[in-house]
Amino acid sequence: MDSISTLDQAISQAPAAVAAVASLEDLALLESSLLGKNSPVGEVRRGMGKLDPPDRPKVGAKLNEAKETITALLTSRRAELEDEDEGRRLLEESIDVTLESVTFPKGSLHLIQQTIDEAVDIFVGLGYRVASGPEAELAWYNFDALNTPLTHPSRLESDTMYLDWGDPDDEVLLRTHTSPVQARWMEGNDPPVYIVVPGRTYRTDTVDATHLPVFHQIEGLAVDTDIKFGDLKGTLLHFAREFFGPQSTVRMRPHFFPFTEPSAELDVSCFACDGGEPGCRVCGGSGWVELLGCGMVDPNVLEAVGYDPAQLTGFAFGVGVERLAMVRHGINTVKHFIDNDVRFLEQF
Ligand code: PHE
Repeated sequence: MDSISTLDQAISQAPAAVAAVASLEDLALLESSLLGKNSPVGEVRRGMGKLDPPDRPKVGAKLNEAKETITALLTSRRAELEDEDEGRRLLEESIDVTLESVTFPKGSLHLIQQTIDEAVDIFVGLGYRVASGPEAELAWYNFDALNTPLTHPSRLESDTMYLDWGDPDDEVLLRTHTSPVQARWMEGNDPPVYIVVPGRTYRTDTVDATHLPVFHQIEGLAVDTDIKFGDLKGTLLHFAREFFGPQSTVRMRPHFFPFTEPSAELDVSCFACDGGEPGCRVCGGSGWVELLGCGMVDPNVLEAVGYDPAQLTGFAFGVGVERLAMVRHGINTVKHFIDNDVRFLEQF
């Protein structure tokens, strides 16, 4: 076969050979077998010198044609294969964003904190400020400033947890109520006073259905030039209606606290039964639920903090936060608040 026929055959066979290649590696091999030194085209190139001079231009032109045609075929096939390769990689490496990811359960505020927030918000809505004080407290603020005599039984170690006990002037204890903040606030601030004090409180109590040694209270204190007992009742009635529902009513029973005079306990009408349903899980059938202690600030307290009892009057109240939450949600044992069982916690 002469050189021209060899080249023509190489040109005519190349398209099918190139099209049949399926990978870039195979294409490289094909390239050397089509254009390399030992390929038919390569052999013609090497034999150029032995040709008769008059034949050389024709064969040379055909040689170029073959080289260009085959190179063009190879180049375009290479581009195709590179495209396919990239497409395949994109597909393999793509991330399925529709796949469900790991989700963590969402936490929520503890019911005690929710209750504090809600109750405090009601008083903030009436213009009260939020105050706080230390949990490790001087006996003076917890008792003496609050008109509590040295002989009062609540001062005994059987009721109060002392951090430092002995000389009443230096005694440090875990506050048994939020009331010491009454004295602290008045000592450091001029009247008028309208504050609520949410906080943790401690007593020497064994855990049972209604007692925890660590619990929470919200104190309320209003001192101004013309505060009357009716203001106390109206304020607490407003609170009860906001917290337990607009149908709520309140009643007061006489009580005793050293730091208020007169003092009272406040009951709220049972919202679970319409009053007096025998065996009601919330009120037990009485129609009333005992809620909190309150009263008119004793003049001795005003005097102890440097306020003038001739100019000022006030009321105070202290409500148990656990109690509020238990009554509102029909929770029958206070231990649920500290067990941290999510089956309880996630209900609120
Ligand atoms: N500090 C009282 C208690 O813990 C409650 C109270 C507060 C009563 C303010 C009257 C006024 O029982």
